[in-house]
Amino acid sequence: MRKTALVAVAVLSASWAAGSRAEQPLGPAAAMMPTAPDATAHPALWPASRSPAALSTRSDEARISTIMARMTLEQKVGQIIQADISAITPEDLEHYPLGSILAGGNSGPNGNERADGATWDKLVSAFHAASRQSGAHIPVLFGVDAVHGHSNLPGATIFPHNIGLGAAHDPALIQRIGAATAAEIAGTGIDWTFAPTLAVPQDLRWGRSYEGYADDPALVAAYGKAMVEGLQGKMVAGQPLGARHVAATAKHFLADGGTADGKDQGDAKIPEIQLIARHAMGYPAAIGAGALTVMASFSSWNGAKNHGNKSLLTDVLKGRMGFAGLIVGDWNGHGQIPGCTVTDCPAAINAGLDLYMAPDSWKLLFANTVREARAGVIPATRLNDAVRRVLRVKLKLGMLGAKPVLRSDHAAVGAADHLALAREAAAKSLVLIKNDGGVLPLRPGANVLIAGPGADNMAMQAGGWTITWQGTDTSAADFPNGQTIGHAIAKEVIAAGGQATVSPDGASVAKADVAVIVLCERPYAEFQGDVPDIAFRATPEEEALIARLKAQGTRIVTVFLSGRPMFAGKLINQSDAFVAAWLPGTQGNGLADVLVARANGKPLRNFTGRLPFAWPDDAHSPLVNPAFPAGYGIDYAHPGSLGKVNEDPRMDLAAAASADSYFVRGKVPAPWHLAADGGITVRSVDLSAQEDARQFIWTADGVLSIEGSPVNLMRQLDEGFVLLLDWRIDHAVAGPVKVSFAGASFDIGDAVRAAPAGSAIQTRIPLRCFHDAGANLTAVGAPLRITAPAGLAATLRNARVEAVGITVPCPAVHP
Ligand code: BGC
Ligand code: BGC
Repeated sequence: MRKTALVAVAVLSASWAAGSRAEQPLGPAAAMMPTAPDATAHPALWPASRSPAALSTRSDEARISTIMARMTLEQKVGQIIQADISAITPEDLEHYPLGSILAGGNSGPNGNERADGATWDKLVSAFHAASRQSGAHIPVLFGVDAVHGHSNLPGATIFPHNIGLGAAHDPALIQRIGAATAAEIAGTGIDWTFAPTLAVPQDLRWGRSYEGYADDPALVAAYGKAMVEGLQGKMVAGQPLGARHVAATAKHFLADGGTADGKDQGDAKIPEIQLIARHAMGYPAAIGAGALTVMASFSSWNGAKNHGNKSLLTDVLKGRMGFAGLIVGDWNGHGQIPGCTVTDCPAAINAGLDLYMAPDSWKLLFANTVREARAGVIPATRLNDAVRRVLRVKLKLGMLGAKPVLRSDHAAVGAADHLALAREAAAKSLVLIKNDGGVLPLRPGANVLIAGPGADNMAMQAGGWTITWQGTDTSAADFPNGQTIGHAIAKEVIAAGGQATVSPDGASVAKADVAVIVLCERPYAEFQGDVPDIAFRATPEEEALIARLKAQGTRIVTVFLSGRPMFAGKLINQSDAFVAAWLPGTQGNGLADVLVARANGKPLRNFTGRLPFAWPDDAHSPLVNPAFPAGYGIDYAHPGSLGKVNEDPRMDLAAAASADSYFVRGKVPAPWHLAADGGITVRSVDLSAQEDARQFIWTADGVLSIEGSPVNLMRQLDEGFVLLLDWRIDHAVAGPVKVSFAGASFDIGDAVRAAPAGSAIQTRIPLRCFHDAGANLTAVGAPLRITAPAGLAATLRNARVEAVGITVPCPAVHP
């Protein structure tokens, strides 16, 4: 899909360039791509705004001029490049005078994802000190993704993800959250967060839907303003931001949430009017509030990558919207501009980007950019403007000069008042969709079972961007100041004189009056969360649990954890009460405050959340038929009873799939197909549910293979993903059993022979291993091939590429 789009762009730009060749400064790396007419913005149509005058005074500008006057060209180029801590050391700054450092989602100090605040502070200080002592003596700006609290840090305060905050419809709450988050970030020495996200997601298949606040541009604008004011504090002319405040980032400019089919980093194919009305509204609000930085979106508008779109970055954002801060790129995003590579891309700076995010590509990028600046491929005026903007942000943060603002207060991390705020936010994020017979609140004295995969699981309730990028291995031990939902509810139930059991698989013996079942989407971030449809699929175990409880006459309250509204008609019908709880963070007690009546018969709080997006009536996205409109939500004062909702997904759920899935519950999803040698027999079997797997029997030596038109899996490689086989070995054989991926193989015969009889096993092989063995991950047309001798019998349930939180070794290589 994306591949085709890119080809189309290349053709378009080429023919558009033909007519205007004379004006184009031609370079090997396309110094400036003209943008196609339907991807050229008309600034006069856009809302006007201005950064506050207090962002930089006349004397601030004079100070910046003085600093710039003594900078060399290399020092200037360094200011516009940002590297990731996983690929640079403070010592490197002596030779490479870079302007900024980030710690991406998977980057902890010295490779430790679980470093504490003091360790972060030490690392940041080392980078600050190294940059102050060398070259132009200008400290680096240090940025992180503190996107729902200071979320890379164990023990930090973790707020609900943005979609849950959207449900609260409460800008004042957002401002308080911004202030608390900033205090924790600054408390560990860090200057800058890549938040807030101002996306207005249009297709909930998008894996970043939960990073957007709501479907309503006006609410997103109000929140953008409030979050910037909370993070940065009040902007005062001639004074730096305070020691408990940090720079904010309005991201991702523009229409990250408007891409076709909800594809992450995809293409928003929409007219300019819609681009403005739907997606742009948050930016004037954030800019007016003083946002010091804006991040360019990976995505395209009508085929042109935003990182290279001068009409958007320069004419609209800096011109019409009067943005005086800096525009940072996204993770190697410049490399996606046609004609660019991650290490060579004057087109991005020439289009208006001020700071390349070049996590691991900074060194060569630095050399190439110096050469291009010297040769005038990047005009001096443009370079100087970019450097001035970077310095303006540093000056406003109080980083320049003899007495810099000192950001360091480790006690702010996980402070009691912040945790109380996160609890309040979690409570306010809940949306009650159904409460038949008033099953909620849980009555004093009730006997309650809390079950389901999210009942006692910190990763499920915190979601992506927590500890790690994907958030898959977050544990309760990471947040001793948090409570899982199950334990928080149990505590209140018991305090109100009742009995409670937390049992994720529900295997408790005694019959309960009410079961709270916490069902969930598994954590994900970015493109890893893109899905082919928005149907919630309960596992066979979950369905069995619900059936058993219903057969016993136990009433069911479903607490649904998800990064987006999902089609869950059957589940809603099976439940007496249904609560959309989004990704509430670590403070499970916020949920107990609303769900459990205290001894006086009343819960601490009523439901106040209302849907931030419409809730679907089937598996289609964009929504055709909402079951509940945006703004819907009931509460204890307005109970009502819900009739039966639709259970038909109105589409073939097996047909759709992504580049990452090759075998889904026994079926090969499009665009893939199965090819097997004649000697291999195939039949559908039941592994854990009806026909959820297929059994393959090698009656002769042969190859079983899944094939399709090639997909690019380089990002999955970079992120350390693995190939997962979820299968059962029914009959092992002597000799090699080779698993191959994109042309490279490993013999896993020993593991196959060691597999326990009769039960499913999970085999994980890192993509890195295949890559090191020669696989080409840019064009994977054969993501799975199993070559085995006659006699092997195996039942395959799932095969896919996925993120893992742990390091998996490569299989041993047999000669
Ligand atoms: C994401 C950004 C994030 C950046 C740094 C990118 O992949 O799109 O939202 O700020 O990485 O981690
Ligand atoms: C993410 C970064 C993350 C990195 C992992 C990027 O796409 O946005 O934040 O750290 O991948 O290598």
